[in-house]
Amino acid sequence: MSIQFDEKQKIFKLDTDGTTYMIGLSPEGYVGHIYYGKRLRSPGGKYCLRMEETPSPSVKKREKSSFLDRFPMEYPTGGIGDYRESCLNVRNEQGCMGCEIFYKSHTIEKGKPALEGLPASFGTEEQVETLELLCVDPVPQIEVILSYSVFAKEDVITRSVKIINQGQQQLRLEKVYSACLDMDNMDFEMLSLCGSWARERHIQREKINYGKRVISSAKGESSHQEHPFMALLTPETTQDKGEVYGMHFVYSGNFTAQAERTQFDRIRAVMGVSSEEFCWKLAPGESFQAPEVVLVYSAEGLDKMTHSLHDFYREHMIRSQYKYKKRPILINNWEATYFDFDTDKLLDIAREAKKNGIEMLVMDDGWFGKRNCDDSSLGDWYVNEEKLTTGLPDLVKRVNEIGLEFGIWFEPEMISPDSELYRAHPDWAFCIRGREATQSRAQYVLDLTRQEVRDYAYECVAKILRSAPISYVKWDMNRQLSDMGSFGWGEERQQELFHRYVLGLYEMQERLVTEFPDLLLENCSSGGGRFDPGMLYYSPQIWCSDNTDAVERLRIQEGTALLYPLSSIGAHVSDCPNHIVGRVTTFETRGHVALAGTFGYELDITKIQEEDRNQIPQQTELYHKYRELTQRGDYYRISSWTDSKPYDCWEIAAKDGSEALVTFVQVRAVPNMPGRNIRLKGLEAEAEYRLEGTEEIYQGEELMYCGFPVKQMQGDAVSCLYHFVRL
Ligand code: GLA
Repeated sequence: MSIQFDEKQKIFKLDTDGTTYMIGLSPEGYVGHIYYGKRLRSPGGKYCLRMEETPSPSVKKREKSSFLDRFPMEYPTGGIGDYRESCLNVRNEQGCMGCEIFYKSHTIEKGKPALEGLPASFGTEEQVETLELLCVDPVPQIEVILSYSVFAKEDVITRSVKIINQGQQQLRLEKVYSACLDMDNMDFEMLSLCGSWARERHIQREKINYGKRVISSAKGESSHQEHPFMALLTPETTQDKGEVYGMHFVYSGNFTAQAERTQFDRIRAVMGVSSEEFCWKLAPGESFQAPEVVLVYSAEGLDKMTHSLHDFYREHMIRSQYKYKKRPILINNWEATYFDFDTDKLLDIAREAKKNGIEMLVMDDGWFGKRNCDDSSLGDWYVNEEKLTTGLPDLVKRVNEIGLEFGIWFEPEMISPDSELYRAHPDWAFCIRGREATQSRAQYVLDLTRQEVRDYAYECVAKILRSAPISYVKWDMNRQLSDMGSFGWGEERQQELFHRYVLGLYEMQERLVTEFPDLLLENCSSGGGRFDPGMLYYSPQIWCSDNTDAVERLRIQEGTALLYPLSSIGAHVSDCPNHIVGRVTTFETRGHVALAGTFGYELDITKIQEEDRNQIPQQTELYHKYRELTQRGDYYRISSWTDSKPYDCWEIAAKDGSEALVTFVQVRAVPNMPGRNIRLKGLEAEAEYRLEGTEEIYQGEELMYCGFPVKQMQGDAVSCLYHFVRL
């Protein structure tokens, strides 16, 4: 039993193996937050609800406004006197905003219901238990269902919210966040992931001061710039020490994650669909389902949080049959040819790839319409027969005969102004009447809020997939949303478009994975602009960044792997000088870095230097050898490179301690440096380990506590793999 209700004290206690979350009810039925942290034995601590506190002797005890400003709310509502950030703002027919919810009843069930139209975690009745608190606001008669699902083994609790209009008024939901954590401040720092195109998900950490610190996206996707994740850390937190509260949003559109340090030195952390340009009309009888937030607590630093999330995403978010399967080593022709390719060129690449152990050819952008650069044809998803002279089925057949699988690129959400589709249906692009829409990469965004547009875009993809044995799709999305006006909806629904767009996208991907259950889907958005748990529900891997430079990838992959399993991180070896930063690194280092992801190639194998090409068979062998460990093992961050620490190091340890793979990258050579010992983790202390390829034997405890002396290396961006196997 992970969830218990103490009827007498009116306390709900939610337990995972290592954590406890407690909710309490005030006498009026306000739903308050008592505790989240290390596992507790019995429900107690109701004093944490602070029901007796008064600001000064002159204020009446339990005077409503001062009470509401202090009570730690599970789901705060706006307009009634709690001046901290609210999660729910409801406007009535008279134009007034105010809402207040009280506990009415609850259910505790084994398992977890799906969230209609949204990606969400799942589990069997043995793996997860769900508490639903039914709350009501009797004035406009709305019901608010607060759902909590407890994944005991992974130390994860997920939350979501559903609003139902049971009254007679047309209501407007101006804000519906999904979760709130109202806690005492423990000198918290905030960890978040920030970046830009080709520089995604760098880790940043800062002290939380009084006021509000917001992380958000208003770009229509989760974005390159900010990530729908935040963690509150006690100041001493390192990889293996300190308390960490993580919140991660299972959503791929506009979001807000905010930590507010209040006048009473408490922290209110909230997360949900952004309320900017959001207003949802809720007619009598209608309901609105908010997406899910993943909560994770670790009392043992960041590594423990990472392990909980990796296990959770592998077991309970990635549906694809490929999650633990060997993924084919692919070669993608984007950086090899860009738009300049034809059947012969692709077959040349395929032949050379096959000789070197590569298993799939992916044909990227440029195979359709008259697309010879990025300024046309999105929407015209028929084969360009000037390039693919014998047609697509024939190309696929010949690639298969060579012995490779075949994959293909699409960008189904987009429409080029220069396309037959746009000439036929200019109203299918988002645009504000009377205003010329903003182009980005010479394209507009298709109005996926409309069923007929989704049907068209989906059928284009499906028709191609039905025409030949295609094993893989890269689903790309290369611009952010603007000019949000739709010809499909009336004036009162235009502020729903951002969210409806995401729902439309989810519907299309659901159809795709349902019709083509064996397809390996990789999501992508100009690199890693939509790398989020929502997309992981549909695709077991996501292209991590357009930046394939081995050194830049260290930071990008470090931030990504803080949350996501390595098996989901799209990583390729590309050619040098690197196309984005012009840096030259060794082929070996590029291989070692890409091995910490899905692994593949993105280069013209027929043209690269012979000594590089000759390394491919060894690299592909390494992939086969370490793939299972990489997909299932525990990832540990050993060291991150900074100017004062010029090397980067991570480890993947088998869960049973039987082996560990360490990747060490010397980013910058520093003269006259003493030897470096790196301390391994996750080994069996009493066991002995052999360093593969040598006769060296080490005690587990020696490796973990004294450290392992990495060999001295010459040069910048050079790397080494160390594989330890338990005897
Ligand atoms: C995006 C992707 C790239 C490539 C191009 C094609 O930028 O991230 O990998 O597919 O589009 O236009």
